[in-house]
Amino acid sequence: MRVLFLCSEFEGVIKTGGLADACRGLAVQMQKHGHEVKVLMPRYGSLYTVPVEQSWSSVYFALGGEAQGCAVRSVVNTEVPLALIEHHDFFGRPRPYDDGQHAYADNALRFAFFCKAALQFCVDTGWIPDLIHGHDWQTGIAAYYLKQFYQQALPGTKMLFTVHNGAYQQALSAQDRALTEVYPSSSSAGSSMLALGLAYADKVNTVSKGYANELLSEPAANGLAALYQARGHDFSGILNGCDYEQWDPATDRYLTTNYSQMNLNGKRACKEQIRQKYQLDPGPAPLFVSVSRITAQKGFAYLLPALEQWLGEVDAQVLMMGTGEQGYIERLRALNAKFPGRFSFVEGFDEALSHQLEAAGDFFLMPSLFEPCGLNQIYSLRYGTVPLVRLTGGLKDTVRDLADSEPTGIGFYQPDEHALLEALNRALTLYQQQAWYKEVQQRGMQQRFGWAESALQYQQLYQQLRP
Ligand code: ADP
Ligand code: GLC
Repeated sequence: MRVLFLCSEFEGVIKTGGLADACRGLAVQMQKHGHEVKVLMPRYGSLYTVPVEQSWSSVYFALGGEAQGCAVRSVVNTEVPLALIEHHDFFGRPRPYDDGQHAYADNALRFAFFCKAALQFCVDTGWIPDLIHGHDWQTGIAAYYLKQFYQQALPGTKMLFTVHNGAYQQALSAQDRALTEVYPSSSSAGSSMLALGLAYADKVNTVSKGYANELLSEPAANGLAALYQARGHDFSGILNGCDYEQWDPATDRYLTTNYSQMNLNGKRACKEQIRQKYQLDPGPAPLFVSVSRITAQKGFAYLLPALEQWLGEVDAQVLMMGTGEQGYIERLRALNAKFPGRFSFVEGFDEALSHQLEAAGDFFLMPSLFEPCGLNQIYSLRYGTVPLVRLTGGLKDTVRDLADSEPTGIGFYQPDEHALLEALNRALTLYQQQAWYKEVQQRGMQQRFGWAESALQYQQLYQQLRP
């Protein structure tokens, strides 16, 4: 089939989180399945240095009663054909969604523009997709436009809408709706860009079975449970995959010492190297790492006070990297000052360091309030870094607690300090019993959540939407 991926991030091009990993992983895999895949995304300001082909397409269309136009430029040398929608006013800003503090006020219009430009591009170039595969709220409105305005020009084109995070919805004000020409059949369908995708796409899925179940009721659905429920069998959960070519400690080019399940000496070397680099004390203490967007979703509201108490009581070390909300970041800096040699916060995001931390840790912290899939716990399993997770959404589908048969990690349910502290202490106990720790670690390293398996399930959905 001819498949158009619409997405706002793509690993290797632009990334603010797992959406980028998932879009790339899936696009590559579906291409391997023999589909003719093309990816379209906005050309953000930071992408003006990405090399593009000399010739480009111009696309013209109307949006909200205004004549609009943009250039569509193909990027050279990509594993999957990828083109960028270029419009300086809308996308020329350095960051994709916000100025570092606040979301851009015109995000609804920006991504409505992106979606309409993409549909018009298909019509103008004659590259007519059998299927549009859209990802997250940024592409939900494409489902509406397809049904509302493009039935004649793209009669056979169907749309699959994948929800990577149901909390980001991009609410539509009355003014937004006028500017983006949204006159939905019901007020809930038109309440947000995400809702439009849920209501108008031919099929909808999310990135784990666990999260799919959660989205059928409130408060997990953030007000949209009725829309998910209304889709019946057209709404499903498919777990993301992991790109094990990129995430293999035996070949990972970012690691100074590679290692494998058979020989973990290299992992110990990675730990010592990272401890030295980030001024953590040498010694027998276990190292807990985290690489994360620093947002409420990731459980920082109870993680931070729990760590402050815990580090005052036990011999353990914590190393965290991330970017995000200022309030949490200030508290992370305060922990840095309070526990020298035992706590280290690296502000920022660095792909190489994200691999090095996965390799260096004894445990990976992921106490998320909710987690549609989660990729870092999957990377952790592969790297022998025992995940400590809140058992929600995709975390519950990928990590088995010590109390379960064949455990691969440590899990807890209640999203509060007390339950987290108990889990942290269980991790310490596990670490003190090295034979048991190694058994859990080894089992984790054997788990596989590859894209091939996920792609088979997407393949079934694609087949059901075949013209
Ligand atoms: P989420 O998508 O909710 O952030 P996932 O676990 O699915 O969580 O994916 C996280 C991915 O994003 C990992 O590849 C991780 O290295 C990366 N990542 C984590 N924090 C950041 C950040 N601040 N900026 C960019 N990428 C990040
Ligand atoms: C979102 C979710 C995360 C998921 C990722 C990729 O960012 O928060 O759980 O793994 O998308 O699907």
